Amino acid sequence: MEFIVNQDLSSLHTMGCRSTAQSFVVVYSLPELKSTLEEARQRALPITVLGGGSNVVFSEHVPGLVVKMGILGIEVLENFGSEASVEDAEVVWVKAQAGENWHHFVRWTLQQGLGGLENLSLIPGTVGAAPIQNIGAYGVEVKDVISEVSAINRNTGELKIFDRDECGFRYRDSIFKRDPGKWIIVEVTFRLSPKAPLKLDYAELKKFWESAGEPSSYLEVGALVEEIRRRKLPDPDVVPNSGSFFKNPTVDDQLYQRILDEYPSVVAFPSGVNQWKLAAGWLIQECGWKGFVDDGVGVFDRQALVIINPGYRPAAAIKGLASKIQQSVADKFGVELEIEPFIL
Ligand code: EPU
Repeated sequence: MEFIVNQDLSSLHTMGCRSTAQSFVVVYSLPELKSTLEEARQRALPITVLGGGSNVVFSEHVPGLVVKMGILGIEVLENFGSEASVEDAEVVWVKAQAGENWHHFVRWTLQQGLGGLENLSLIPGTVGAAPIQNIGAYGVEVKDVISEVSAINRNTGELKIFDRDECGFRYRDSIFKRDPGKWIIVEVTFRLSPKAPLKLDYAELKKFWESAGEPSSYLEVGALVEEIRRRKLPDPDVVPNSGSFFKNPTVDDQLYQRILDEYPSVVAFPSGVNQWKLAAGWLIQECGWKGFVDDGVGVFDRQALVIINPGYRPAAAIKGLASKIQQSVADKFGVELEIEPFIL
């Protein structure tokens, strides 16, 4: 495989930071990926795998080899049951390759009349990246509909198929995120259904359809989710950002009660026994950051969880602002905010 030297990565990730990779290659098939890994091993090049670049903040110089996943393909598996057609089936398994654009894939499934992914419409990124941080929105997490993930071990080249339990999914987390140097996801199998119930309970979704009319198909739910996201979240092609920059933190009952006493408007949801998930956007907003912009970096004015980079500043500037936000939330509420994207 030919590696490109000093590849500019600016347009390959959404945070807008100027960045160059020591070496770069796009792989379009499993054999290409395997031979790339072998060559990188021989040349002792550390590897960074890149999907859609929507959850990564690149430093100015990325050492080693950046591998962009370009493996494409979507396939409806034939073993969906004894039914004659997809429409009659209870469950339909669909396999998608890692390089497929996430939103295009979601739209394709909705157009086939398959439910399960509609609430996850318009999330930037690729199919292969979706399981890594167990993407979630509007009451659905991708783990809910994943049946298998196939991944290559970076060190041995071995292909392993993980069933859903083996993926160790948690909120914005999986074994692929907890051990980022080990696996490269190459394909994901989803368990979809033409009979899956619509999931319309998420407060914001409900607010929208109560005024706009209740959606009655997967495509309509997808369109509604797209509309909400377009209104609330910045388009990375217009204002560089990587979506939620922090995870919603979980705190124990004691800390939650202390915060509630002092700030009765705190936004929180029960999350397991004696645990509460706090809306990080609310915590950041209460610290006065919403709409703040200084020296080209800032906090989106409609969703305080999103750091924006309109000045195309380097990763250090993003990290600097993120640290100040974390510090102010810790000082005011005693809550630690965890950064969500990979910072490389
Ligand atoms: N809120 C504020 N101020 C803000 C933002 C939020 O007060 O600036 C409060 C509001 O009360 C709002 C509540 O927080 O009702 C929840 O806000 P939202 O519905 O926007 O959800 P979120 O918890 O802030 C999460 C995901 C988003 C996803 C939305 C919708 C995380 C880290 N983020 O945000 O994911 O779109 O739910 O389900 O869990 C992403 O990952 O890039 C992303 C956008």
